Amino acid sequence: MAADDICFFSKDGFFLKAPKKSPLMCRMIVLVIAMVCSVYMCTVCLQQISFSSNNENLNVEVVEKPCPEPYIDPWEIPYVHYPKPKSYSRVECACNPVRYFAILSMQRSGSGWFESLLNNHTNISSNGEIFSVKVRRSNISMIVDSLDKIYNLEWLSSASRNECTAAVGLKWMLNQGVTQYHEEIVEYFKTRGVLAIFLFRRNLLRRMISVLANSYDRDAKLQNGTHKSHVHSPHEAEILARYKPSINARLLIPNLKQVEDMTAKALEYFKSTRHIIVYYEDMVKNHTKLLDVQEFLKVPRREIRSRQVKIHKGPISNQIENWDEVQKALKGTCYESFLHGDY
Ligand SMILES: *[C@@H]1O[C@H](CO)[C@@H](O)[C@H](O)[C@H]1NC(C)=O
Ligand SMILES: *[C@@H]1O[C@H](CO)[C@@H](O)[C@H](O)[C@H]1NC(C)=O
Ligand SMILES: *[C@@H]1O[C@H](CO)[C@@H](O)[C@H](O)[C@H]1NC(C)=O
Ligand SMILES: *[C@@H]1O[C@H](CO)[C@@H](O)[C@H](O)[C@H]1NC(C)=O
Ligand SMILES: *[C@@H]1O[C@H](CO)[C@@H](O)[C@H](O)[C@H]1NC(C)=O
Repeated sequence: MAADDICFFSKDGFFLKAPKKSPLMCRMIVLVIAMVCSVYMCTVCLQQISFSSNNENLNVEVVEKPCPEPYIDPWEIPYVHYPKPKSYSRVECACNPVRYFAILSMQRSGSGWFESLLNNHTNISSNGEIFSVKVRRSNISMIVDSLDKIYNLEWLSSASRNECTAAVGLKWMLNQGVTQYHEEIVEYFKTRGVLAIFLFRRNLLRRMISVLANSYDRDAKLQNGTHKSHVHSPHEAEILARYKPSINARLLIPNLKQVEDMTAKALEYFKSTRHIIVYYEDMVKNHTKLLDVQEFLKVPRREIRSRQVKIHKGPISNQIENWDEVQKALKGTCYESFLHGDY
């Protein structure tokens, strides 16, 4: 009999201490073994059931299609991204490629106007001067955190608007950590495939007027008690332009030189990144320059507009309190042309 066989086996094999010749004991042992067996079989069954249901889940995930390869040149591949923001879904545009960019500029060089133009394009989100907040640029890891958030389409600002963004970026002044952490930032741009847009102003004297007037208005608050760096009506522009700064003629040339040096250094640092250089004056004169930028970002071509109004217009001689001194200081230098420029 099977039971006897098992008993025999048990007696001689495992249960050495079992009392001899006890049929009741034998039956008990058989019962226990049967129970253990059935429990074991049940757990195996259950495991298989749950494993197969896991399998189904896996299959569902695998079935979800990856985005089709976009039709692009091989050199472009590092600059094309498919961000997956955690807080929302890119829904119908999840498979639209996204380019990352940064507008690298200096204060009062037309970057506010330029950014408002870019943001007029439905497929561009430029998130503003985010590194004007000091703590965000207190060290490179803070900088990287902010950049990661922007490029993953998770930065919330008035410009971060829709899931169909095809180019996302920010406006970044050279003195907001760009020069200081240039090595790490260049490395980031190259490994993450960020496109750099350098925006400069040719006429640095006009830029200086704008810097001085803007800093004066920070205290004077000429618009009924509020400070404005950018305006949307000719009336507001006229109010701001009424103030004529006086320029320190002795420091003028060293100051202009310092700005030039900073520009040259930045271009040298970033020369190995993919970049474009645009000048404020060229864009004011010729709106088709804006198409070059759209082409660089590979967004669909659009007519783009800004509501911003230029503050300082007309001949530069009307905009400086001590015009004669300034004129004398620049005559015969390499900066003389700044005295005549239109914009
Ligand atoms: C672009 O500017 C025009 C004119 O100011 C405006 O009507 C339009 O709504 C703007 N589009 C976007 C996307 O901001
Ligand atoms: C970077 O700066 C932040 C905020 O100032 C600070 O909390 C963090 O510890 C700093 N990290 C490093 C690596 O220095
Ligand atoms: C641009 O945005 C529109 C909707 O706002 C979308 O239909 C289109 O696919 C987007 N284009 C690109 C290239 O992402
Ligand atoms: C300042 O206030 C006056 C009177 O209330 C108003 O007419 C004018 O438009 C305001 N100017 C600006 C720039 O808001
Ligand atoms: C305007 O800019 C475009 C593109 O950069 C250029 O091809 C064109 O010649 C310029 N037009 C004028 C009038 O300067």
